[in-house]
Amino acid sequence: DWTIENFIEMEVDDIRSKVGDRKVLCALSGGVDSSVVAALIHKAIGKQLTCIFVDHGLLRKNEADEVTKTFVDDFDMNFIKIDAADRFLSKLKHVDDPEQKRKIIGNEFIYVFDDEAAKLTDIDFLAQGTLYTDIIESGTETAQTIKSHHNVGGLPDNMQFELIEPLNTLFKDEVRELGLQLGLPESIVWRQPFPGPGLAIRVLGEVTEEKLAIVRESDAILREEIAAAGLDRDIWQYFTVLPDIRSVGVMGDARTYDYTIGIRAVTSVDGMTSDWARIPWDVLEKISTRLVNDVEHINRVVYDVTSKPPATIEWE
Ligand code: XMP
Repeated sequence: DWTIENFIEMEVDDIRSKVGDRKVLCALSGGVDSSVVAALIHKAIGKQLTCIFVDHGLLRKNEADEVTKTFVDDFDMNFIKIDAADRFLSKLKHVDDPEQKRKIIGNEFIYVFDDEAAKLTDIDFLAQGTLYTDIIESGTETAQTIKSHHNVGGLPDNMQFELIEPLNTLFKDEVRELGLQLGLPESIVWRQPFPGPGLAIRVLGEVTEEKLAIVRESDAILREEIAAAGLDRDIWQYFTVLPDIRSVGVMGDARTYDYTIGIRAVTSVDGMTSDWARIPWDVLEKISTRLVNDVEHINRVVYDVTSKPPATIEWE
């Protein structure tokens, strides 16, 4: 009889006998899959697991703190957080091409991770959150030819580790259930998909600190309002994008010349195709008002009403 409880019991036994008294490394992105893998392996072998979390400075508001709090305070894991924001930002300076941005972030991630992993001399295994769907879909995802989907969980091929992939028989819904059973908070278990290159591909064109702040603040407000409206489980993915557009507005009696922010919210099953979410107008109105009032340098809000295809979900 397949139940989550049985699965946990079996996998814990399996991991223990495979690992013995050796050590496991896990690259934690804060996403559902890597978080569940870390929690599962931690249940099996505790401090023999070390997690490395690279904060590239392109995460959503509070995300790094939330992940750190969960794994350090609640799970008491061996957890290494690397603050690499400056490193990534300086590499992204003057770069405005989307594919170039992806490539730089992907490479930099590997350098940073590599540097840190090299300091840990006695690791034998690398844990990865590969799902069943990742295996059956690999090679067939057409989006890969459209965007070089860089996933921050992806790691260098030349690392001399044996892989542990305990989720590779599971589907996403089972992984979420497993995460809840293992005591992960709903905020992680129900986290919406988030691209490896993070907010860098939601600031169109060159990424600057100022623009990142705008997209980060506006994203936080959008998420708050979507949750307040009870829509957070219905909409597959929702975020803001900052196109490189400024336009004229009026605030009080004064003329403004500031940024336009875009809202992207889509329904989808797997991200391969999507439809734009029919967010009720009163919810949109509230979001729009807050974005203009609470986020500096925004004076106009637009809603993306394009499906995929022909548009993609992300704007870059
Ligand atoms: P697109 O924009 O191609 O996105 O319609 C489909 C899904 O993939 C996510 N996405 C990425 N995920 N690395 C990732 O790990 C990436 O470079 C990347 N680009 C897009 C996107 O958020 C959506 O869920």
